[in-house]
Amino acid sequence: MKDSTQDDTTPARVMDLLARMSLDQKLGQMLQPERLSVTPDDVRAHHFGSILSGGGSTPGENRPTDWVAMNDAYWAASMSDEEGRVPIPLLYGVDAIHGNANVLGATVFPHNIGLGAANDPDLLQRIAEATAKEILSTGVEWTFAPTLAVARDIRWGRTYESYSEDPALVASYAGRFVRGLQGDLGRDGVVACAKHWVGDGGTRDGFDQGETDIPERELVETHIAPYLPALAEGVLTVMASFNSWNGVKCHGHRYLLTDVLKAQLGFAGFVISDWDGVDYLDADYATAIAKAVNAGVDMLMVSVEWRACLEHLKRLVSDGTIPLTRIDDAVRRILLVKHRYGLFERPRPGKRYWSRHNVLGAPEHRAIAREAVRKSLVLLKNEGGVLPIDKGARILVAGRNADNRGHQCGGFTVAWQGASGNDFIHGGTSIWEGIREVAPQAELSVDGSAAEAGSHDVAIVVIGERPYAEGMGTCGGRRRRGRGQGRGGSTIG
Ligand code: BGC
Repeated sequence: MKDSTQDDTTPARVMDLLARMSLDQKLGQMLQPERLSVTPDDVRAHHFGSILSGGGSTPGENRPTDWVAMNDAYWAASMSDEEGRVPIPLLYGVDAIHGNANVLGATVFPHNIGLGAANDPDLLQRIAEATAKEILSTGVEWTFAPTLAVARDIRWGRTYESYSEDPALVASYAGRFVRGLQGDLGRDGVVACAKHWVGDGGTRDGFDQGETDIPERELVETHIAPYLPALAEGVLTVMASFNSWNGVKCHGHRYLLTDVLKAQLGFAGFVISDWDGVDYLDADYATAIAKAVNAGVDMLMVSVEWRACLEHLKRLVSDGTIPLTRIDDAVRRILLVKHRYGLFERPRPGKRYWSRHNVLGAPEHRAIAREAVRKSLVLLKNEGGVLPIDKGARILVAGRNADNRGHQCGGFTVAWQGASGNDFIHGGTSIWEGIREVAPQAELSVDGSAAEAGSHDVAIVVIGERPYAEGMGTCGGRRRRGRGQGRGGSTIG
């Protein structure tokens, strides 16, 4: 197989940039702080390669124009050539994992587990294309999707982020979703990120960020298999996973990151760590950073502690703990992704095509979302031919989730842990709102107290749960935190 760690395919432009960059600038390229902890001045001073919005971390009033303005400011700072720095545009990354759903008014698609039930790879590509345009409408270029986890224990709080327990189904979506997001890396494409490498869905008892203790053959057949079509489609980035494989954390797993992913499978893009994911490798932060970078992590997602991270990196290079060749390889990969995506040629975010043709929540995208909802519904039984219900029937609609768009959308919608109620989900339709539209005699009674045999022909009870994300959704689970203060776990509304 191709060894992508070799330099022979790297374009001259990337090698030329690399030759002109100072060590400080190279290390800055390897960092991705969270937006709340960095200003444009920090970007100018430290040359960050990327910034991210954690789930629910949104600028201004969370309108596309707020996002574009924020990205313009960061972009301009990254392009400064003051004091001999080499201008390198930054990549901005978000979790658009079921539509660009952090943003108010975006089209929200069903979560992946629902899309798995649709069993329709073509639909997945169209969802990804629509999502890419809604991301570009906010001046953003990179999303941490698709999630290629194969959830093997439904107690895992991230099961809804997995398309299926069946690796073949996940594989049938992986390449199409990457193609939909990245396109031909032209005007309509964003940078995709296959995550979380690898075995995230295979942890013991479904514990989030837990231990995946399985033989290599099972890891390959169940958890690595879905990555192959994504890599074949040229996915530009891969995110390391919080879980361990047979006792070694993936963030520090040289064999999995460097030998398997980069060397054997020929992945030529860069590996991003997960949210403070490096921190768990060792109680001593510097040791943890060295383990991750030497194992093959190219860019570090750091919520808050980027100053300490930079200082440690610098010292680790100067004392030889991290070889300069490893730094050059990481930065080469980051620049290569930026080059392949055409980032150097793109104007500032506010001048790009989709920032000027805002399609966030566009009717044609909502039509795809509706199709996805229809196709992902699962009918378990229809005893006595209750369905379909006559639109003229006197329908009683009950349940706390009957008129709750927030609960319908789930986690990673406007807030990291999702929203409650209708106020924050603009443009959607709750189940009650949908029924009301077509059935004039329907009546809403959330607690069901209006139910009466004489006045209703049939009752629909909507059962659901409060949204959650990640460890918060694992039975009795809590999210483990890294060094950063991180984000709150609260639900909006
Ligand atoms: C999650 C990732 C996500 C990242 C950035 C992490 O906690 O595990 O899936 O992309 O946060 O928000």
